[in-house]
Amino acid sequence: MEAAREARERAYVPYSGFAVGAALELADGRIVTGANVENASYGLTNCAERSAVFRAVAESAPGARPAIRAVAVIADSPDPVSPCGACRQVLAEFCSPETPVYLGNLSGAVAETSVGALLPGAFSDEQMANVRRQDKEA
Ligand code: THU
Repeated sequence: MEAAREARERAYVPYSGFAVGAALELADGRIVTGANVENASYGLTNCAERSAVFRAVAESAPGARPAIRAVAVIADSPDPVSPCGACRQVLAEFCSPETPVYLGNLSGAVAETSVGALLPGAFSDEQMANVRRQDKEA
């Protein structure tokens, strides 16, 4: 949560003014952080959680899939901040349903949940198994 708090200070939020920080603990012990990055074309904004995940991929060895062991997110919200739907789906790609997610605010409130609780029934590569099989047979 402390790493997420520090990352939040680097958010680029000229439009909403709502800074968010995220920190991921990877299976190899590394902590990878991210902050939200907004754009004049508002819909292109990247949330803190996805910034952190994409950074973890960019900083991993070629072909390696980062395994996320824990997630922390913080914002200056009245209640612990809640990740958006897009970030829940992106987190599910590199986490297990049991991966703990710590949601916090600047007042020190922290709620613990999990990736599976945030997004039950996430779409996953397992649902594309037949497509991959067909590729192999071709
Ligand atoms: N935002 C995040 O970065 N993470 C969340 O969990 C919720 C929303 C950002 C997107 C946008 O820059 C700002 O917060 C307001 O929506």
